[in-house]
Amino acid sequence: MQLLDGKALSDTIKIELKKESQTLNEKGITPGLAVILVGDDAASQTYVKMKEKACDITGIYSIIHKMPSTISQEKILEIIHMINQNPNIDGVLVQLPLPKHIDTTKIIEAIDPKKDVDGFHPFNVGRLVSGLDGYVPCTPLGVMRLLKAYHIDPKGLNACVVGASNIVGKPMMNLLLNAFATVDICHIYTKNLKEHTQKADLVIVGVGKVNLITEDMIKEGAIVIDIGINKTDEGKIVGDVDFERVAPKCSYITPVPGGVGPMTIAMLLENTIHAAQNR
Ligand code: GUN
Repeated sequence: MQLLDGKALSDTIKIELKKESQTLNEKGITPGLAVILVGDDAASQTYVKMKEKACDITGIYSIIHKMPSTISQEKILEIIHMINQNPNIDGVLVQLPLPKHIDTTKIIEAIDPKKDVDGFHPFNVGRLVSGLDGYVPCTPLGVMRLLKAYHIDPKGLNACVVGASNIVGKPMMNLLLNAFATVDICHIYTKNLKEHTQKADLVIVGVGKVNLITEDMIKEGAIVIDIGINKTDEGKIVGDVDFERVAPKCSYITPVPGGVGPMTIAMLLENTIHAAQNR
């Protein structure tokens, strides 16, 4: 069993990105990222702080627009329009989830697709589905980059994606399909999850449920990617996979923390640098 070390790989990527950022500086460009954070969801605040710090060390200027949970949809749209027109901002990210009274689709659709470094705008989603260039959501992009770094080619593999969210599962499915894997995608209404995971060479899970994936659900020698981030009652950060029991059966597995999480942030930085290069 080999660990897929997302922390180490993301550190290497960040060093490269810092160099690219310096090259942009020589041309008089400072890459800029605007983040919209609505409300006081603890996890969202932590993620935004991590993104801010990562921008800092990579030479990306970041500005956080913090808003109360009572803010109106119109006000958020107004701020997005302002950011779209700001020539010093290359990327815009709206931290999800948004409060219930806000229509998330309307907010995402207001982002200029050229600044959509999260890859959530239907324009970029459509391009991904069609196998065209565009911004790709950072978490599944980070998974693909991690696989590539360990010379794992999805071509011809039986892949099983567990979780069908717009942020993770669906783009993950499309990236794997574009890389010629055979993809099974499972979700909350899947009848017998084990039936699907058991026959997979590559299992990718991002649901947010502790110990969802147990030893009996994984075949010998499988590659397991755990996108889940959960906090146990003891305050420990764990994924969706019962790591202790599943890991010995795997050829490769990601740890949590230190697997996909740091790759997500590295891909956000990379998307932002690319946006600045296309300025
Ligand atoms: N909420 C959970 N994951 C993400 C993400 O990757 N991007 C944004 N914007 N919000 C999230």
